[in-house]
Amino acid sequence: MKSVPASLRAALLVATAAALPAAAQTPPPEADTRQFAPLPAAAQATLRVEMLDNLAALNEIISLMAEGKLKDAGAVAEQRLGVSAMGRHRGKPLDARPGPHMPEAMHGIGMEGHRTASEFARLAAAGERDKALAALSGVTGTCMACHYAYRVR
Ligand code: HEC
Repeated sequence: MKSVPASLRAALLVATAAALPAAAQTPPPEADTRQFAPLPAAAQATLRVEMLDNLAALNEIISLMAEGKLKDAGAVAEQRLGVSAMGRHRGKPLDARPGPHMPEAMHGIGMEGHRTASEFARLAAAGERDKALAALSGVTGTCMACHYAYRVR
């Protein structure tokens, strides 16, 4: 892998550090106080596939940022995480759609994630690397906000 410029490395560290205090508060499994969100099995299955793609997209975005390919990073973010990725399960049977079964606040975090990803995409497309990185930590912040507040099993 190509070496990452020190300035970008520092920015990525800052983005990561923002997530750390919450991680330090991870409850042990027996004290899981997250709210249970009952989703039909089919909706859970849809969500898991979407989540794995979220993770893959995030990895791709960070790699592209490290290579200085901001426009490509923005395009991946918009298509796979951004507002453009909303409503992709609309054609599925209701049972297989995660959104409609989520508590309202949980769904709200999901929407916020799409909006933040589009904000990142806009800044990346404009070549605003530092602002884009700050927005990217906002995206991972919404991943955390949902995972730390809700469980589905
Ligand atoms: C609105 C809530 C919500 C948001 C936002 C969210 N997730 Fe998830 N995620 C879930 C839930 C619920 C599960 C558990 C699904 C299950 O186990 O059936 C999950 C599971 C996962 C998994 C495990 C998939 C597996 O292999 O079973 C990964 C990885 C993941 N999410 C990554 C992400 C990333 C990366 C983001 C942000 C880009 C994100 N999630 C944003 C709710 C969310």
